[in-house]
Amino acid sequence: MANPRTVGGATQDSRVGYVIRQMEPPNLETPLDLVDSFITPSDLFYVRSHLPVPVIEREAYRLTIDGAVDSPLSLSYDDLVRMGSETRVATLECAGNGRVFLIPPAPGAQWELGAVGNANWTGVPLSTLLERAGLASDAVEIVFEGADRGKPKEEPVPPGEISYARGIPRAKALQPDVLIAYQMNGEDLPRDHGFPVRAIVPGHFGMASVKWLTRIHAVRQPFLGYWQTIDYGYWYDTDGMAARGSLGEMLVKSEILRPRVHEKVPPNQVYPIFGYAWAGESDVVSVEVSTDGGQTWAVATFIDEIKRHAWRRWRFDWHTPQNPGEHVLLSRASDSSSNVQPDKHDPHFGSYVINYPLPILVFVEQAGG
Ligand code: MTE
Repeated sequence: MANPRTVGGATQDSRVGYVIRQMEPPNLETPLDLVDSFITPSDLFYVRSHLPVPVIEREAYRLTIDGAVDSPLSLSYDDLVRMGSETRVATLECAGNGRVFLIPPAPGAQWELGAVGNANWTGVPLSTLLERAGLASDAVEIVFEGADRGKPKEEPVPPGEISYARGIPRAKALQPDVLIAYQMNGEDLPRDHGFPVRAIVPGHFGMASVKWLTRIHAVRQPFLGYWQTIDYGYWYDTDGMAARGSLGEMLVKSEILRPRVHEKVPPNQVYPIFGYAWAGESDVVSVEVSTDGGQTWAVATFIDEIKRHAWRRWRFDWHTPQNPGEHVLLSRASDSSSNVQPDKHDPHFGSYVINYPLPILVFVEQAGG
């Protein structure tokens, strides 16, 4: 999709072209039915921010690496850039993507299909930094802290302002794919996406990819922060008792972007149904489509090859019926670990992890109508 805007560095981003879920702090959805590229343009990549966006000057920027390490580090932006970079493609999905489909309605930003995007991220592998700092052998998690501060909204709320912080398990932190990134799609990170430096945790829901990253803190006990337990948590059963876990990997999911909900489609023609599919630490290996509300399914064709941590575009040529009427379109992906999208939402996830096949209701028009 042609986009005349240029966005970059620490300048304020334009919000034109987004579906605005909230203006301040910015919560902006990508109109994915119009952006059908493999790489989502940075200035249309969804934005999810919980707290006011901090302004950080590149020259004044410092990244602290401390906690359970032998030699704490304090790095400037230039120190990071000099360290040797890697570029990786990764899909980020907000854990609340698709929330508008939940019945009964769930509180929170009413994301439709576009709180997901795919970008090239450039930066230093986290494992390089942890090696340099000498990660303690008994460190269990690595906590990322952002420069944004404020009071979160969901109960129970802390008594004062807190920073956005989120941890990942040690094993994931040591994987070479986790980046401390300073570029998105070959340019400086836009301010809304974390300028000057953010974490990128491929395969995990977006909440782990902490923006405006100022501290990497290794801990010897699991981190129980607000966005680790109260928000972005889920319920699980342990020996018959309910316990609270922390969301991590994305689950296999596909979306139909074209046609869009309530679109009128012509009768008796081939309509190319288009969508994206992705999985967390696995690969999407098949997408099936139903044009009759789930009674029958047929296999879709992939447009993109498998690339770990990146989504795959797919299409399915639908020969639309002759007669006018309503049709519910569904898509269902499977991954290389034999996971298939579930039939319905798992209530243990609350208003998160909405990876059941989302119903796209369309209308086949009257011939000549
Ligand atoms: N990092 C900070 N510091 N503050 C935030 O509010 N939001 C998280 C994550 N990192 C957030 C953050 C969430 S919930 C998501 S889904 C992703 O950022 C979204 O990244 P994006 O805005 O670049 O798309």
